[in-house]
Amino acid sequence: MKATKTDIRAAAPRLSEETAEFQTFGTVVRLPIALSQKVCESSVRALNQVLADTITLRDLYKKHHWQVSGPTFFQLHQLYDKHYEEQATLVDQIAERIQLLGGVSIAMAQDVADRTQIERPPMGREAVPIQISRLLAGHEEVLRGSHQAAEEAQKGGDDGTNDLLVSNVIRSNEFQVWFLAQHLVPTAVTESANESERELVAAKSLAPERTFQS
Ligand SMILES: [Fe+2]
Repeated sequence: MKATKTDIRAAAPRLSEETAEFQTFGTVVRLPIALSQKVCESSVRALNQVLADTITLRDLYKKHHWQVSGPTFFQLHQLYDKHYEEQATLVDQIAERIQLLGGVSIAMAQDVADRTQIERPPMGREAVPIQISRLLAGHEEVLRGSHQAAEEAQKGGDDGTNDLLVSNVIRSNEFQVWFLAQHLVPTAVTESANESERELVAAKSLAPERTFQS
């Protein structure tokens, strides 16, 4: 059989191709999802703010996962990473909701840094109570924005956005706040909490040993 001659250039990767973006940030294209353009634009705007703050909170968890110290190192190291993974799941869900509404989701760190409402932490390490306070403030920022956005979405009939915000974002953030905040309750880690308790323990250790019969 005679081989057909092909142009080898057709198989070459186009490494230097430059194309202009075909949808600019801030625009919304219509998709057949039975929601008005106005409602989609409003939800996209609100979701992008929640997204910027959620990406920041996610990364704050990883920073603290790496930089944590002290007697609770192991469990906080693990807890921070668990919350990081859960925030990463939320990031994907929010970003994809923005795209399916016809919008463009925020993605890159520089754009996130420009828009997030969460205060920038220092580059150095901070003690556990500061780490936790910072995370709690971040959660509250996300929750504040999510409650507002959920209410707006409900008014406009955007049930999907409302459901994502209420069932996923708000519920997950509230749960994580609970787990974190309990670390700030001043209970003792390695010794009794107060003088009278320590005295009680000392008195018991001096008392004659009791024997138990089976
Ligand atoms: Fe790790």
